[in-house]
Amino acid sequence: MTRTPLIAGNWKMNLDHLQSIAFVQKLAWSLKDASHSFDDVEVAIFPPFTDLRSVQTLVSADKLELAYGAQDVSAHDSGAYTGEISGQFLAKLECAYVIIGHSERRTLHNETDEEIGAKVAAALKHGLVPVLCVGETAEDLEKFGPSAVPVAQLKAALAGVASDANLVVAYEPVWAIGSGQAATPEQAEQVCAALRAELATTLSSETAAATRILYGGSVKSGNIAGFMREPNVDGALVGGASLDLDEFSAIVRYKK
Ligand code: G3H
Repeated sequence: MTRTPLIAGNWKMNLDHLQSIAFVQKLAWSLKDASHSFDDVEVAIFPPFTDLRSVQTLVSADKLELAYGAQDVSAHDSGAYTGEISGQFLAKLECAYVIIGHSERRTLHNETDEEIGAKVAAALKHGLVPVLCVGETAEDLEKFGPSAVPVAQLKAALAGVASDANLVVAYEPVWAIGSGQAATPEQAEQVCAALRAELATTLSSETAAATRILYGGSVKSGNIAGFMREPNVDGALVGGASLDLDEFSAIVRYKK
């Protein structure tokens, strides 16, 4: 099965409003620039919640081929949940995707596998595609080897999810995030293959074959091609390098 590669930029809590708007406009021009054409790749950005409305306006007004989504979602639909943003709000902003279970949410906000599973269910209920993040710490790697923790996190988050669920999985080794020390393509392939096997077991072989699995962790223009050559790596979730327009544009235009 052919899976359209997805290059996703997670801006985290960076870029103020004016910078976000300028970035989206320039990225759109860059993507349209025929002299620097790129292969059939889907591009998505994940700005802070406060810029989603503006991004929606820009994308719809100029009919940009640019997907966008939020960096988190509430497990609840509405009610007394101060500070939370629900899936139905994000759906009204025409978000296609939502990142769930990023390691920064797991560690800094103590999100459990159970909460992450509830967020995945909430996203799917509202027609959002979860970008479910899994990944091991350096200690996990030492203790349990490369795949055990990411596979267990995936399994836990998918309990109760329909076998034909439309989701994206992002393998992000915690030790590679923001460290400048990316996994090797071989390491990423090994874990992504194990994640795909788990998708086949937990959901179905059809869903496993259709699901895009991204690698994330110190991805840049200089190493993207190596990851994209691996059969089970279908794209990248990019943090720091997604904040630099030239660098992000170069990542999007990777050549295998
Ligand atoms: O969501 C993105 C990841 O946390 C990767 O971040 O590219 O800065 O290592 P990074």
